[in-house]
Amino acid sequence: MKQRKAEFLIALAAIFVLTRVLACAQTQAPSKPFDLIEWNNGKLVYGVDYYPEHWEENQWEKDAAMMQAAGINFVRLAEFAWVRIEPAEGRFDFAWLDRALRVLNTHGIKAMLGTPTASPPAWLYAKYPDIAATDENGVRYRYGSRRNYCLHSANFVAATQRIVTAMAQRYKNHAGVIGWQIDNELGGPECFDAASRAAFQRWCHKKHKTLEALNKAWGTIFWGHTYHSWSEIPLPWNTLGKTHNPSLALDHARFHHDSTCDYLKLQVEILRKLAPKQGITHNAMGMYDNVDYSRLFAPLDFVAWDNYPMFGEDYANYFGSGLAHDLMRGSKNNQNFMVMEQQGGLPGWSVFRGRQAAPGLYRAWAYQAAAHGADGVCYFRWRTSRYGTEQYWQGILDQDSYPNARYQIISQTGKEFAQLAALLQGSRVVSPVALLVSPDSRWGFRIQPLVKDFNYNRQLGLYYGAFRRAGMNVDVVFPQSDFSTYKIIVAPSLFVVDRRLVEKLTNFVKEGGTLILTYRSGVKDENNVVTNQTLPGPLAELAGIAIHDFDPQTNQEQEVVGRDGLRSRARVWFDILTPTTAQPLLTYEKGYYAGKVAMTGNQFGKGRVYYVGTELTPEACLAGARLEARGAGIPLGPELPEGVEYAARVKDGKEILFLINYTDKAQTVRLSDSYLNALTSTPEPTEVSIPAFDVKVLCSR
Ligand code: GLA
Ligand code: GLA
Repeated sequence: MKQRKAEFLIALAAIFVLTRVLACAQTQAPSKPFDLIEWNNGKLVYGVDYYPEHWEENQWEKDAAMMQAAGINFVRLAEFAWVRIEPAEGRFDFAWLDRALRVLNTHGIKAMLGTPTASPPAWLYAKYPDIAATDENGVRYRYGSRRNYCLHSANFVAATQRIVTAMAQRYKNHAGVIGWQIDNELGGPECFDAASRAAFQRWCHKKHKTLEALNKAWGTIFWGHTYHSWSEIPLPWNTLGKTHNPSLALDHARFHHDSTCDYLKLQVEILRKLAPKQGITHNAMGMYDNVDYSRLFAPLDFVAWDNYPMFGEDYANYFGSGLAHDLMRGSKNNQNFMVMEQQGGLPGWSVFRGRQAAPGLYRAWAYQAAAHGADGVCYFRWRTSRYGTEQYWQGILDQDSYPNARYQIISQTGKEFAQLAALLQGSRVVSPVALLVSPDSRWGFRIQPLVKDFNYNRQLGLYYGAFRRAGMNVDVVFPQSDFSTYKIIVAPSLFVVDRRLVEKLTNFVKEGGTLILTYRSGVKDENNVVTNQTLPGPLAELAGIAIHDFDPQTNQEQEVVGRDGLRSRARVWFDILTPTTAQPLLTYEKGYYAGKVAMTGNQFGKGRVYYVGTELTPEACLAGARLEARGAGIPLGPELPEGVEYAARVKDGKEILFLINYTDKAQTVRLSDSYLNALTSTPEPTEVSIPAFDVKVLCSR
C-alpha cells in the first residue's frame, strides 16, 4: 500500500512532461581505452594478492600449483616489501623476488609489482626522522603501522625515487611482470610540520597570486584573520572544534590532494621512462574522499581498487559496492577497470567485522565487479597472515592452507572467468543515468557537516539505489565529465558550485536533459563562501524556485504530501520553497510552514529540473526514478526481488546481462526477452531462476 502511494507520489512530476527531446547527443570519441584483457594475454585478470616474503620459501611451489589449479593467472606482489628489497640505504636484494617470480611464472601466473612506498623501513625513519608525518598537534608519528610518511619530506622523496628507480630498472623487461601498482591506498595522512606548512603557503601563492586576492577569496576579514605575508598563513587546526576558516580548510584539502597526486606522478614519471611497456595503476578505495580519484587516475593506465563489500551483516545490500564500482569506473571516463583487492575472507584487524559470508558470495562479488565493468578481480589475500596486524583479516586460505570452501568456490569462478574472457573483451557499461559527485562539495560538507544526520554519501546512495533498483545502469560523473550522453543527471546536495558547472548543467537541461537537485545546493562558491544570491543561488533560475527559509531537522521527521493524499516521510533538512517558474509537487504537513512547498518540478528549455528540498524515503525515490525513466524513454529493467541485482554490459549492440542473487533463497526474475546463458550457451527461459547466492550471465542471442 505504502509502495503504491509512493508510486503515485512522484507521478505528479509527470504532469510537467510537456515536450521531451532527449539529450542523447553525440558520444565523444574516447582515446583508445586500455584493454586489460589484452594486457593480461587474452585472459580476464584473475588474481590473488600474494606475500611470498611472509612464508617459507619451500611453500611457494605448492602455493603456485594451488593457484594455477584455481585458475589464478595474476598476482600482486611486494607492495609492502621495501625492507626486503632495500635492507640498507642503497643496497638492494632482488634475488628472493626473482625466485618468487620464477616459481609463479612457471605456473602461468603473471605479476604486478607494487612500489612499496606505503610502508617504508624502520632504518629509513631512524636515519631521517622528518620522513614521519606530524599530526595537527605537532606530534611526530612514532614508527609502526604504515601510511605514516610526510609527502613534503625531501628525504622521503629521494628515498622514493631510489627504490622506484631500482625496481623499474630490475624488472622493466621481465616477461613475467606486466605492470605496476603505485604505492597503496594513497590519501593519508595530512602532515602538519614546518615543511608542509611552507609547501601550503607556496601552493596558496601559486593559486591566489596576490595576498589581496587570497584575503578576498577567503573572507579573512572575519575575526580579523587578514594575512600580510605568505609566511603568516597557518595550517588548519581543528582540535578546538571546527573553528578554522572553511575557505582555508577547503584550499588545504585541495592542497593535500594535489600533493598526493604530485607524489604519485613522481613515481609515474620514473616508471614511464624506464619501463614504458608495462601498465601502471594505483590501488584506490572507492568512496574514500581524501583524494578526487577522477584526477588522481588521469596519468595512469587504468583504475584499480579495493572492494570489501561486507562490513557488517547485511550481505544482501549490494548498492554500496555497486556505487563504489561505478564511481571507480567513472574516475577514468568509464573505462573498464579491475579490483585489486576483492574480499577473499572475513575482514577484521583485532576484531572480526561482521559474520562469515556464504561461500557463494565470494563468487557473486567477482561477478558484480564484472557486471560493473571490471575486466578482472584479484582477491585479498591468498592466505591469512600468521603475523602482524592482519591476523584476523582472512585470505582465501587460512594459515593451514587447507583447500576450504572459499578456495573451492574461487576455483569454480576461475574456470568460469576463463570461459567468459572472449565474450567480455571489448564490452563496456553504458548508462542512461548519471550521478554527479562533486569532490568540492564532499570536502565542503566534511569541513561543515550541516546537521548531525547529514551524510553526502548516503544522499548519493539514496538516488543511486533508486535508479539501480529500477533496473538501470548508473554512471558516476564528476564536474569535468562529458554530460551530453545522459538523459538524467542526479546531483544530490550540490553544495559547492562554480560558474562553469552551473553553465554545463544549464546547457544539459536546455538540450532536454532532466536534472534532479536536492537540498543544500548552490549554497557556496568555489572558495567555500556562501552566495549572496537567494538560494539555491546560481541554480535558482534553473530550478525555478527561491528559498527564503529552511529548517534543519535534528531527530525530527514529518510527512510531505502531494495531491490525492500522496505522502512520503521527510527528514534531515527542510528547505521551504517558493516556486517562481516551477510547479509545486510536495508540501510539508507540519510546523509553521505547513502547506508550504517541499519539492518542485520546473520546465527549462527542452528539459526540466526537480528540486527536492528534503530527504525522501528510498521507496519514494524509487517511484520517482521509475516515472522519470518512463518519461525519458529509458527502458526499465526487470522488476527485481529484494537482494537481486541486475546490471548490463554492451558489445557491438549486444547485451550481456548479469543477474546476481545475494539472498539465501532462490529468486526469479522475469525478462522481456529470452537470452542465452553465457556459460552453458543454452537458451534461458524468460522467467530466469537464480539459486541462492548464485549468478546468471546472459547474452543476446
Ligand atoms: C558569542 C560571540 C560572538 C559570536 C557568537 C556566535 O556570543 O561573542 O562573537 O561568535 O557567540 O558564535
Ligand atoms: C587494504 C589494504 C591491504 C590490507 C587490507 C585489509 O585494502 O590495501 O593492504 O590492509 O586493507 O586490511
